[in-house]
Amino acid sequence: MKNDRLKIAIQKKGRLSEASLAFLNSLGLMFKPNGHSLIQKCEDRNIDLILLRDDDIPEYVSRGVADFAIIGQNVLLEKRMQAEIIRELDFAKCRLDIAVPEDSPIKVLKDLEGERIATTYPELLKEYLAKNNINSAIIPIQGSVEITPELNLADAICDVVQTGNTLKAHNLKPLVTILESKALLITNDVGKKGKQQLKELLLR
Ligand code: PRP
Repeated sequence: MKNDRLKIAIQKKGRLSEASLAFLNSLGLMFKPNGHSLIQKCEDRNIDLILLRDDDIPEYVSRGVADFAIIGQNVLLEKRMQAEIIRELDFAKCRLDIAVPEDSPIKVLKDLEGERIATTYPELLKEYLAKNNINSAIIPIQGSVEITPELNLADAICDVVQTGNTLKAHNLKPLVTILESKALLITNDVGKKGKQQLKELLLR
């Protein structure tokens, strides 16, 4: 089915969602909520807002399905997908940290040698460990990474830290930051009617 409406993808629920919508609203792009629909139409333009899991967003943009998207730098880098960054946004600031239990014998980076690290970011972690000549077992997890040391699934974690509250709640402390992240506005090079005009609006 051909659908030539322009599409902007944002995170459905989570760290980026509210601020992403507020950013679009601040540019005059208002969308009509439609029950539980994950596609919302712009009130007065040929634009749809699509609400996605943030880790699916790079796929939609790199395949040309979404024309623009707001995504965390952490997710974009982890997914290793083609997208053009057109603007850095001033929200969803966080870090990707390796953290260990407060009483862990792991005190410095090289102590991670041979240890198990649970993470939602296996690619970024693999790259970081390789750069530092450390061999650890990476345990890929989809969420609730902070509970893995106390349940003895891992010796350390590599996860997003914003306030640090989740680390504290699980008696974890940061060992090293592997990435500083914020929200990015991204696009692809697929041409569509009205896309340049929308890009100019998004860059305003
Ligand atoms: C991240 C991370 C932690 C939490 C940390 O989850 O996995 O659970 O945020 O935030 P804090 O330092 O402010 O406590 P997120 O909300 O991004 O969800 P997800 O990683 O499960 O998608």
